[in-house]
Amino acid sequence: MDRSEPDHDLHRIFLDPSRRTRPMHKWRHYFDIYERFIAPFRGRPITLLEIGVHQGGSLEMWRAYLGPQARVVGIDIDPSCAAFAGEGVEVFIGDQADPAFLRRVLDEVGPPAVVVDDGGHTANQQITSFEEIYPALPCPGTYLVEDTHTAFWGGEYADRYDGRSFLDYAFDRCRSLHEWTMRRHAFERFGTPPDERRGGATPVSAFCRRTGSVSFFDSVVVFERADRQEPWHQIR
Ligand SMILES: C[S@@+](CC[C@H](N)C(=O)[O-])C[C@H]1O[C@@H](n2cnc3c(N)ncnc32)[C@H](O)[C@@H]1O
Repeated sequence: MDRSEPDHDLHRIFLDPSRRTRPMHKWRHYFDIYERFIAPFRGRPITLLEIGVHQGGSLEMWRAYLGPQARVVGIDIDPSCAAFAGEGVEVFIGDQADPAFLRRVLDEVGPPAVVVDDGGHTANQQITSFEEIYPALPCPGTYLVEDTHTAFWGGEYADRYDGRSFLDYAFDRCRSLHEWTMRRHAFERFGTPPDERRGGATPVSAFCRRTGSVSFFDSVVVFERADRQEPWHQIR
């Protein structure tokens, strides 16, 4: 292997077609990102949901990587993708921009711990899927949105009817992480442990309370779930 190539199991499954039967299409630099965020879920009885099945190879890769306890679920708008269901792999046919369809999938499969959005890559598709699925994720949980470079492509990729792209939306979510700490006048308040503060906890959005991080990479945004407490600071 070229020394500049990622050197881990997931990338080896991608490179070695004998470990799967179908082709897939992935940017090479995504493998380090997957490894970093998805490796903690290996060997566990979790559900991974991938939006965008295409030729089925990535569903096989996730199954091989996560292990036999994992349930792998694919969503695609193309009915021919139903043929890629198999042992431990389910496929649902529908539109990732249709909230009612997404709710039906979640009702049937339960909350996925890992979501990979590799579907149609328009702003509306990415945002609608995120808004429907992300609140259902457990802690820990990871939601990856791929090919976010499409935000620079213009048209429906960059504009969810309001001139805003998924990257704009994700940066707004990044702001939401700071709902506790963003008010300068409240800085002193955070010098007291949360359970001793006058007035109790400051109300924040469910996103802020249940998100540990938002990570931006070239073409990928990753959201990690976490149960957060109101933060505090100390001089010691
Ligand atoms: C980039 S391919 C998926 C590649 C696959 N994950 C892989 O790694 O090989 C994108 C897929 O998204 C599907 N797709 C496009 N628009 C969609 C939508 N609105 N809802 C669900 N799937 C969609 C396409 O049919 C196509 O199969």
